[in-house]
Amino acid sequence: MTPLDLADLRQEYMRAGFSETDAHVDPLQQFERWMQDAVNASLPMPNAMTLATAGAGGTPSARVVLLKGLEGDGFVFYTNYESRKGRELALQPEACLVFLWTALERQVRVEGRVERMPAADSDAYWRSRPLGARHSAWASAQSATVPDRGTLEAALERARARYGDDPPRPPHWGGYRVMPQRIEFWQGRADRLHDRLLYRLEGGAWLRARLAP
Ligand SMILES: Cc1cc2nc3c(=O)[nH]c(=O)nc-3n(C[C@H](O)[C@H](O)[C@H](O)COP(=O)(O)O)c2cc1C
Repeated sequence: MTPLDLADLRQEYMRAGFSETDAHVDPLQQFERWMQDAVNASLPMPNAMTLATAGAGGTPSARVVLLKGLEGDGFVFYTNYESRKGRELALQPEACLVFLWTALERQVRVEGRVERMPAADSDAYWRSRPLGARHSAWASAQSATVPDRGTLEAALERARARYGDDPPRPPHWGGYRVMPQRIEFWQGRADRLHDRLLYRLEGGAWLRARLAP
């Protein structure tokens, strides 16, 4: 087998620029524009984002989750409150999100405090989920070790038998909202001289600055 040569994998970023005059004064509206572009470009899973949290002692951990909306000016995702990320967020309610839209040569980075969604919102989203996903949320103690796949499938069967067509939302499952303090938009440019615009929330107003690539 030929060895993988990653060092020579290179791409020039040529698609577009992103300047202060293009950028909306409100970063949430700017984010919606870029998300709409990603949806219009039919990118696979445009709402997938890397979620980084910090464990005890500041050890970072990251995984991909799906953005389910922008609500109350926050970035919303749903998960298990007792998962690794849930336990880390209980201790350190701050997170960083990264969106990567490779075909558009764009990245967005969001940093902020994290709060749980109100129970009524989690209930409403829970009811919109496919039935199988709702049974799985009961069957899977997310992030716990399990002996084998059969154990999970047996737990799913038990959840189906117990809750039937209308499983209630488990107390350990619901939404979080990342309330942004910083949002950075990155657009790839030629010769690695990329455009980076950073918005920082200060005293209730968004300030904008350009960062060196
Ligand atoms: C494309 C994609 C989307 C995902 N969406 C979610 C999600 O919305 N919520 C979730 O809890 N896990 C989601 N996952 C699984 C997580 O990446 C992760 O495995 C899980 O949440 C457990 O993470 P933890 O052990 O760090 O808590 C997704 C994974 C992928 C690859």
